[in-house]
Amino acid sequence: MRIAVTGGAGYIGSHTCVELLGADHEVLILDNFANSERDMVAEIAAIAGKPLDTAEVDLDDRAALGRTLEQFAPEAVVHFAGLKAVGEAMEKPLDYYRVNVTGSLNLLDEMTRIGCERLVFSSSATVYGMPEHVPIPETHPLAPTNPYGQTKLMVERIIEDLGRARPAFSGVSLRYFNPVGAHPSGRIGEAPRGVPNNLMPFVADVAAGVRPQLTVYGDDWDTPDGTGVRDYIHVMDLATAHLAAIDLTGEGPGVRAFNVGSGRGYSVMEMIRAFESGSGREVPYTVSGRRPGDVAITLADPSLAERRLNWRATRDLATMCEDVWRWRSGRGG
Ligand code: WQD
Repeated sequence: MRIAVTGGAGYIGSHTCVELLGADHEVLILDNFANSERDMVAEIAAIAGKPLDTAEVDLDDRAALGRTLEQFAPEAVVHFAGLKAVGEAMEKPLDYYRVNVTGSLNLLDEMTRIGCERLVFSSSATVYGMPEHVPIPETHPLAPTNPYGQTKLMVERIIEDLGRARPAFSGVSLRYFNPVGAHPSGRIGEAPRGVPNNLMPFVADVAAGVRPQLTVYGDDWDTPDGTGVRDYIHVMDLATAHLAAIDLTGEGPGVRAFNVGSGRGYSVMEMIRAFESGSGREVPYTVSGRRPGDVAITLADPSLAERRLNWRATRDLATMCEDVWRWRSGRGG
């Protein structure tokens, strides 16, 4: 199939493009390269052993977006493009609503205009807000506690309403838990700009010696070792979930949301130990107070995705750490 991938040069988008090409789809990346590297496209093509096209397009440029989609005539769209830092969203909420919500509206308008009615949307477990119970099923209350999560929930709701208005429309929203890892080739991976917000890239920087130590945000949580527990999912497992979601959109109309997590939680200390054994490097750390907005545990109930997408996460923490280290150590530092 012809598949357009917005934000396809980004972390999860690039890994998904590798899998799409591997499944013999024809891929067009639409990216404004605001938070991704152009040379990632060549890496994707090299890994897949196949060419793919790229269009430098910003979702707020409706005319360019429309021309690009008209020309490529995608049969389905995977929509990653957006801003995704919780802290930044608190400081710049209007940017987040403009890029994530208006950008998605422009995309959906142009898709409708050209008659493309199959969509997979990159959503997030932040739509749940503070977990009332774990593991979290899709029926958990939706109560985002930050503008980033609000934008993801708004776009999910826009997609649902579009599905009600257009009988042939088929959409899947994938609610990611904690994406980590890198392609086993070590050629693509997560390359956050500036100081990493998330645990795994920060740990990798410490192991690479470019940051002196990790700050563990609290060791007095109600968890087995007192440090935060999260549902980490390997980005390659995430990529295969997108392929399964695209296939589901081909089975008929309707809009659904699925948790994309492993259902297995790991603590910060477990991550540190696993990274040390995966990299052979020390990861010195210090313990500070809790980070505002943090919770003790988030964990997915992935059973609906397992059933309806016939998909499950297969890669364990050791693989996540080994793959990140191969990528990170190949970038020097
Ligand atoms: C994981 C654990 C921290 C950094 C965020 C976003 C969420 C999603 C995934 C987009 C927690 C601890 C972290 C550090 C630490 N992104 N930690 N020291 O907060 O679960 O989720 O990323 O969709 O929207 O909220 O991930 O990697 O920041 O934290 O101790 O330097 O590691 O307290 O327990 P989080 P994280």
